[in-house]
Amino acid sequence: MIYAANFKTNHTRNSTKNYIGKLINFVKEEGVKEDIYIFPPSTALDKFNLPSNITIGVQNAYPVENGSYTGEIGLEQLNEFDIKTIIVGHSERRTIFGESQELIAEKFNFFKNLGYKIIYCIGESKEIRDANQTMQYLWSEFDDIDIEYNNLIVAYEPIWAIGTGISAKKEDIDEVLSALRNKIKVPLLYGGSVKSSNIKEIAGIKNCDGVLVGSASWNIESFCEIIKNR
Ligand code: PGA
Repeated sequence: MIYAANFKTNHTRNSTKNYIGKLINFVKEEGVKEDIYIFPPSTALDKFNLPSNITIGVQNAYPVENGSYTGEIGLEQLNEFDIKTIIVGHSERRTIFGESQELIAEKFNFFKNLGYKIIYCIGESKEIRDANQTMQYLWSEFDDIDIEYNNLIVAYEPIWAIGTGISAKKEDIDEVLSALRNKIKVPLLYGGSVKSSNIKEIAGIKNCDGVLVGSASWNIESFCEIIKNR
């Protein structure tokens, strides 16, 4: 299993440092060998002394080395901290910040050409699910995305399950991940209200290779509990 923690707009430089210190201790004490990815806010990026199975990535970046892009960070800022991992296509970027599939594909290709590990997110809204268009919609989110990229991880995150406390049903996750698996050979994650009380069930889904956790990852004890309860 892969465990990814998306801090979103939570945590500071100080609290991130604290969190990572506790996570390192937990991984050592429990002998956790699985891959763990932490996505802090970009203000908390730093050089951490990490065991080989913990990686720090960014939630977002602009596909440029540097330049005049007010409010964005580019490669120059990522390189300072040897960042080589990024989330692309998160539904909050798509909906709140209006990122088009075109921009998302541009980001994907920029970071792909640099060999980044990319966690690429897809997910349907409640309206699309109710209209029985889920798979059709999800495939459209792969426009201009190389699904054979060897440093890719795909995260399926139904929008209606994100931050709501209500995860998608096991059968629904299973159905989507199985359909994705027919075409996509890279690891598949599920995200959307993953917590310590549902991790066992989600981890048991056939094509589920890991989880992308938002709210339940923000507290270190809660994130460790998820890893423990797998
Ligand atoms: P959530 O967020 O765990 O709070 O539902 C998941 C995500 O947006 O990655």
